[in-house]
Amino acid sequence: MKNPIAIAITFAMIATSVTVFAASETSTPTAAKALVFTPPNDEEIPNNEFGKIVRQGKNIFEDTQHYAKQYVGNSLNCVNCHLASGRKENSSPLWAAYVRYPAYRAKNNKVNTYEERIQGCFKYSLNGKAPAVDSPEMVALVTYSYWLATGAPVGAKLKGAGYPEVPKPGLIPDANRGKTVFVENCQVCHGSNGEGKKVDGKYIFPPLWGSESFNWGAGMHRINTAAAFIKANMPLSKGGTLTDQEAWDVATFVMSHERPQDPRFKGNVAQTKKEYHDENCRYGETVNGKVLGGKHQTAAK
Ligand code: HEC
Ligand code: HEC
Repeated sequence: MKNPIAIAITFAMIATSVTVFAASETSTPTAAKALVFTPPNDEEIPNNEFGKIVRQGKNIFEDTQHYAKQYVGNSLNCVNCHLASGRKENSSPLWAAYVRYPAYRAKNNKVNTYEERIQGCFKYSLNGKAPAVDSPEMVALVTYSYWLATGAPVGAKLKGAGYPEVPKPGLIPDANRGKTVFVENCQVCHGSNGEGKKVDGKYIFPPLWGSESFNWGAGMHRINTAAAFIKANMPLSKGGTLTDQEAWDVATFVMSHERPQDPRFKGNVAQTKKEYHDENCRYGETVNGKVLGGKHQTAAK
C-alpha cells in the first residue's frame, strides 16, 4: 500500500461510476490514504420501491421528531449533528460511515453492526429508545445510508469521514474563556441559555444543553468530540473560523451545563463517572455548587 496512484487506479476500476482518487493530506506516509467520494444527488433517487424507502430514510433523518417520534426523547433530529441531510464532509456523513461497518467500538467493547451504531445515536444523542433492527424506521435509515454510499469502496477511509480531531490547545480548556466565545459566536442562534430557538413550535436552532438536548452518554458530550464538531461546523456556515483554543474552550463551556442523565446510570454519579467517563468530560464535576449529572441522583417522587 505504498503507491497512492496504484491504489487509486485499483479503486477506480472497482468503482466505475464514481470519481475516487487519493486525497493529498494524510497523517503519515504509511497511513491508509483517505479517498475522495461524492454521494449521488437526490434527483438520482430511483422512482421505485427502493427509492421510496430511500426517501423515507431521508425524511426520518431530517425530521426525526415527526417520522420516528416514538423513539425520540428530546428535541433533536439526526441532521442537527450530521449536517446537510448526512452529506456534509467533516460532519460525520452517512456515506463515509456506511462503508466502515461492522466496526469495533471501545464504547461497548464489541464489533458493532451499522444498525447497532444507529441504535446508539437514538439512545444517547436523541435520549430515546433504540428502534429494532427490523423496524421500518431502521430499515429506512440504513437504506438511505446505503444509497448515499452508492459506488463507494467498501471498508475505505473516505475523506471527510467523522469529525476531524482538533489537537489539544496550548492552554488548558477553560469554561470562562469559552463563555466569551459562546456569547460572541453562538448565543445569537442557540440562545443565552443554550435553549435553542423555536418558530411555530418547531426548533430552527437546536438546544445545546438542558432537558431537550443530548444526554450524558452521547458522543457529543465528550469535550474532544464537541470541539471537533464545533471547529468544523460552527458557527453555522462558518466552520473552520474558530481557533483550536476557542473550539475547546466553547466546548468546555457548553459541557459545563446540566443535560439528561446517562442511560447507563445505576443510581450513583461517582460510580457512573468511574465506569463510563474519562478526562474528556465534565460529568460528575461540581460547577456552581451543583454536581453535573446529579440532578436525577435521587429517584423522582
Ligand atoms: C447530538 C448529536 C447527534 C445526533 C442528534 C445524532 N448523532 Fe449520530 N453521531 C454523533 C456523534 C458525536 C457520533 C460519533 C462520531 C465520531 O466519533 O466521529 C455519531 C456517529 C454516528 C454514526 C457513525 C458515524 C461513523 O463515521 O462511524 C452514524 C451512522 C450516526 N451517528 C447516525 C445517526 C442517526 C441515524 C441519527 C438519528 C437517529 C443520529 N446519528 C443522531 C452525534 C449525533
Ligand atoms: C447562524 C446560527 C448558528 C450559530 C451562530 C451557531 N449555530 Fe450551532 N447549530 C445551528 C443549527 C441550525 C444547527 C443544526 C444544524 C442542522 O440541523 O442542519 C446547529 C447545531 C449545533 C450543535 C449540534 C446539535 C446540538 O443541539 O447540540 C452544536 C453542539 C452546536 N451547534 C454548537 C454551536 C456553537 C458552540 C456555536 C458557536 C461557536 C454555534 N453552534 C453557532 C445554528 C447555529
